[in-house]
Amino acid sequence: MELYLDNGCDCIIGFGGGSSMDCAKAVGARIAKPKQSLAKMKGILKVHKKLPLLMAVPTTAGTGSETTLAAVITDAQTRHKYAINDFPLIPRYAVLDPKVTLSLPPFITATTGMDALTHAVEAYIGNSTTYGTRKDALLAVKLIFENIDTAYEDGSNVEARRNMLHASFYAGCAFTKSYVGYIHAIAHSLGGEYNVPHGLANAVILPMLLEAYGTKIHKKLSRLAVAAGIAEDETPCEEAAGRFIQAIKDMKKRFGIGDHIPEIQETDIPKLAHYADKEANPLYPVPVLMDASELEKFYHLLMEEPSEISEILETPTVSDGESKSENEGNVVEKGETEHDRAGN
Ligand SMILES: [Fe+2]
Repeated sequence: MELYLDNGCDCIIGFGGGSSMDCAKAVGARIAKPKQSLAKMKGILKVHKKLPLLMAVPTTAGTGSETTLAAVITDAQTRHKYAINDFPLIPRYAVLDPKVTLSLPPFITATTGMDALTHAVEAYIGNSTTYGTRKDALLAVKLIFENIDTAYEDGSNVEARRNMLHASFYAGCAFTKSYVGYIHAIAHSLGGEYNVPHGLANAVILPMLLEAYGTKIHKKLSRLAVAAGIAEDETPCEEAAGRFIQAIKDMKKRFGIGDHIPEIQETDIPKLAHYADKEANPLYPVPVLMDASELEKFYHLLMEEPSEISEILETPTVSDGESKSENEGNVVEKGETEHDRAGN
């Protein structure tokens, strides 16, 4: 910001991954509103003022920040990671040049690519989609399934890199209108507290949450499975949904991504779940609503060794005086009123 003001600049170029582009957005927001801190712009529609000309050049294919209205900020003091969402933050120009992504190492190619996949999936399964966002999400999923392995194995493949950049862009278009969900809310809490890379956190959490949402999202997952090329229109819904979740698990395995976040400290879990709950509710139109105590279970799962996961999932939970023994007992079905609450 000082550099911009001292040199009489008239344009900001965000060049890099999500953090770099979001930093450029944040600088723009502070130039537009010099008297307001970033913390005060947290949430939605708090910027509400035109930024200097903003251009974005992504060097990873994942964040989609080059087309979204979000800038994710970490408060260095509290380790709280929060999002500023407003339309003036959408860059005026996005430059999608695969050449600047060619040197991205395989593991970061994989995790950032799975961030884009998470954007497309969360935007698609949420309760606030449009024809346009569904179309963008399906296209992103198709491009990711067709190209992520090639980009991972042969980073110099320009065509695969270009397709991944396009996938990331379309997934960004989808979630900037239809939002994300609990996977991102939990990932942000882990990124803020422990600096867990965003794409990695999403990749670890993605299949776990899709399973926890249960049958409520099977129909939508089946359509994503068709877009991914792993099911036909005629494939029974439940089977196609299962294949989609399994394909994500297989993808993780191929990329060496595990099922745990070893940094999680048990004593931090209530705070992390509180952050995730506050981020998601009421902003994200999640398919199944959960409260902070229900979200805590996922942090415990992320801490546990694989042999203990099934034990936790089978443990009955007590809610409102009623014992629930099924896995879905951990979540509260979201009723019409709550849908209306989140539908925007
Ligand atoms: Fe993301």
